Amino acid sequence: MKQLELNGAEVCILSPETLPLGAAAWLLEHIQEAVATKGWAALALSGGATPKPLYRLLAEPDQAELWPWERVRLFWADERCVPPDDPQSNYNMTCRTLLDHLPRRPEVFRMRGEDEPHAAAEAYAALLKRHAPSGLDVLLLGMGEDGHTASLFPGSAAASETVRSVVAAHVPKAGWRLTLTPAAMRAARRVLLLVTGAGKAEVLAEVLTGPLAPVRYPAQLLRGHAGAVWMVDEAAASRLGVP
Ligand code: 6PG
Repeated sequence: MKQLELNGAEVCILSPETLPLGAAAWLLEHIQEAVATKGWAALALSGGATPKPLYRLLAEPDQAELWPWERVRLFWADERCVPPDDPQSNYNMTCRTLLDHLPRRPEVFRMRGEDEPHAAAEAYAALLKRHAPSGLDVLLLGMGEDGHTASLFPGSAAASETVRSVVAAHVPKAGWRLTLTPAAMRAARRVLLLVTGAGKAEVLAEVLTGPLAPVRYPAQLLRGHAGAVWMVDEAAASRLGVP
């Protein structure tokens, strides 16, 4: 593993094979830290293809046994506005890859993608306020090839939201989404960004080393976050100029 700092961002470069293990160890450390401090931990997960190998790893009996799952309050970073049994649903994907296999269940707070988007966003913000009043302890995020993170897409009003913690966002190509906002991301104690594949190399270099333009590249919102770590594979890191 290579570790470096780029414009204040902590970056860890791993092989695609070791990335899920590195991510699992980092997550567990910070979940345990929160549990040791207050007896429970608020964790938010993301969708997309990137975290699937990680979720499958966490579902393996050896890993599951290490985790204090019964002390975890589980949230999501974003959701598609579809019912929970829809194959597009992030909740559904998390159930299939992880939750359905755990011996001890976390307390699950899913985003209600089946409800009217604005009402669902407001309800989720209230849920977060009630069950994670001091913000998320650990937030797992991915990044798209256009620099979006969660469902904060380039140029969207959601990417500049400063007050609400959750909003409904209409994404021209993707329809309605529910998403955590920059305000909720900034309030998270620890953030892990997982980025893999050569297709994201250029945008990752732009996000980490280019001029700050978070409305153009919403993932840049996490660049100055003191608790954030970027765990990326070698292909995604190939344009960072690291020898
Ligand atoms: C989602 C996400 C989204 C994702 C990126 C990257 O629900 O799709 O939360 O922000 O992390 O689009 O997706 P991939 O991992 O599939 O490249």
